[in-house]
Amino acid sequence: MKPGLRDLYEAARKARENSHSPYSGHKVGAALRTGDGRVYAGCNVENSSYGATVCAERGAIQAAVAIQGRFVLKELLVLTDVNPPWPPCGLCRQVISEFADPDLMIHAINLNGDTYSIAFKDLVPQAFTPAHLGK
Ligand code: THU
Repeated sequence: MKPGLRDLYEAARKARENSHSPYSGHKVGAALRTGDGRVYAGCNVENSSYGATVCAERGAIQAAVAIQGRFVLKELLVLTDVNPPWPPCGLCRQVISEFADPDLMIHAINLNGDTYSIAFKDLVPQAFTPAHLGK
């Protein structure tokens, strides 16, 4: 485990235990760090109407907004049970873009500790952001 990721990993691991994923069978946890150092977590919540499923990353972002309102997303860890570990899906990438710090780092990790870290600007080089709407 990379130094500095332990707290995000633990938060994601705890949230992942609550995952509601009877359809895919894949429990996912996510944890993010804000610009002021706070940590929020989420898990995937699936639905019998599959398209209503919410990923763990979006759950963590919803939690951050609910608790502190506007925030800066500095670091996001996604914990899955697969190898290679899953990066955020396309829909989550767009939601992440709304709050992403220019130096946001994404850490995809699995339960074995295999980790793939990438700068968000490299994962989504031409992101549509609030700046496109003058915000
Ligand atoms: N999932 C996430 O929660 N995050 C990701 O980054 C990829 C996919 C969830 C959605 C669904 O519940 C399950 O994993 C399979 O797609």
